[in-house]
Amino acid sequence: MNFEIQETRILLRHAEDPKLATIEGYRSYGGYETLQRALKDMEPDEIVNELEESGLRGRGGAGFSMGKKVSFLPRGEQTKYLCCNADESEPGAFKDRELMQRNPHQLIEGIAIASYAAGAGHAFIFIRGEYEAQADVLDRAIAEAYDAGFLGEDILGSGFDLELVVYRGAGAYICGEETALLDALEGKRGNPRLKPPFPAVQGLYGQPTLINNVETLSNVSHIVANGAEWFRSFGTEQSPGTKVVSVSGRVRRPGNYEVQLGVPTGGLVMDLAGGPPGDHKVKAFYPGGSSSPVLTPEGLDLPYSFEAMAEAGSMLGSGSIIVADDTVSIPHMALRTARFYHHESCGKCTPCREGTNWTVKMLERVVRGEATPMELDIITSVQDNIVGHCLCVLGDSMAMPVSAMVRKFRDEFEQVIAEAALESVPVTGGNGNGAPTEVPALTEMLERDPLQGRPVPAGEQRVGAEGDDA
Ligand SMILES: Cc1cc2nc3c(=O)[nH]c(=O)nc-3n(C[C@H](O)[C@H](O)[C@H](O)COP(=O)(O)O)c2cc1C
Ligand code: SF4
Repeated sequence: MNFEIQETRILLRHAEDPKLATIEGYRSYGGYETLQRALKDMEPDEIVNELEESGLRGRGGAGFSMGKKVSFLPRGEQTKYLCCNADESEPGAFKDRELMQRNPHQLIEGIAIASYAAGAGHAFIFIRGEYEAQADVLDRAIAEAYDAGFLGEDILGSGFDLELVVYRGAGAYICGEETALLDALEGKRGNPRLKPPFPAVQGLYGQPTLINNVETLSNVSHIVANGAEWFRSFGTEQSPGTKVVSVSGRVRRPGNYEVQLGVPTGGLVMDLAGGPPGDHKVKAFYPGGSSSPVLTPEGLDLPYSFEAMAEAGSMLGSGSIIVADDTVSIPHMALRTARFYHHESCGKCTPCREGTNWTVKMLERVVRGEATPMELDIITSVQDNIVGHCLCVLGDSMAMPVSAMVRKFRDEFEQVIAEAALESVPVTGGNGNGAPTEVPALTEMLERDPLQGRPVPAGEQRVGAEGDDA
């Protein structure tokens, strides 16, 4: 299959221009004109309809229709909030960082229009604590927007008021889960809440709250400016629009690539990101961040869309592809994945708290060669008992990829057990003093983090494929 594809930049358009992060730069490309038009000429319901018609699906993981979610908020005079989810803590995800850093006003304009549509007078951007540089960029941009009259009281004489605040999180992955985010924002420990009630009905401080991802909200001004039909001219019927996809792992050009949804997945991995280095071959990949069930190389032929990934038994999630090539040990990758979720579990519910703990312990036995092949069945049955039985989907986020790895690469798990068992057989006499040799340390795979994309230092960030082979 020919994997040559092109980027289609809407959200990352002009991203190379450093002036875009300033209000003058943003306005020089027509920025804030849509907000002015929306406040002057459009009723909130018209905007909600346009968003619904566009088919824009949430870009934070679940892929739920954004317009529908806005329409769930009750109408009328009452305090309502908008929360922009900028927690982005899933291994492999780094697109929101780039969107905020390069084009903060695109997000602010989207938040202002969405708040107007939802009737929210207060909005927050909940950003992960580690994104200090991006939070500073947002603070500066918000101050500029207030000065220019695009935020604050009686915006552009429309009678619409909006206060926007950046709230820096403390660096817990679970705070990206929307209800844990709300608790954290209220100053409590970030633990997920039972749903229903959903935040659209009872969210921040018990009031109706619209929660959307950075990329979702960044799309809003483009849809309102150009119309739902224009948006639907990109992507597929069920996954309209473009997607900023973070590609990382064993590829030559890791980075963020904006493509139309539905392009061949192999185009992202093999063409834009350059595929694995040298003669190495793709062995497996997570198509939607570390919580998505891994796919084998045949998955490269699939269209990169919500529906195709779901049909293949995985998910598009937040749109983060992590590639493992033939140098990567899948059992070690499973262990590293499980350790992440075990570390980040809030511990509120038993299947996740205990299941992540036991999965780590069992996978450690695998890589140490202490497990029997039968234990692989126990590992998969533990995962089956986690999925669908937790308060939030963090438990599932470990269980689904681990289960897929054990099921699809069972031979490799058995081989690792056998090899590690051989290596760790106590050698008496061979080393001269009769003492057993040490159990071998986990391989280099555990030191090298296969789940992290190459960090892109501020100032030298790149967008797209302009040939910088790593
Ligand atoms: C453990 C966990 C972590 C999450 N982290 C994020 C995150 O960092 N950013 C995000 O937008 N959504 C995250 N989500 C999804 C949110 O709960 C929610 O669905 C999303 O913010 C809604 O926005 P959207 O409809 O625009 O995608 C996470 C979910 C879970 C269960
Ligand atoms: S699934 Fe895990 S992270 Fe989510 S509420 Fe339960 S224990 Fe907490």
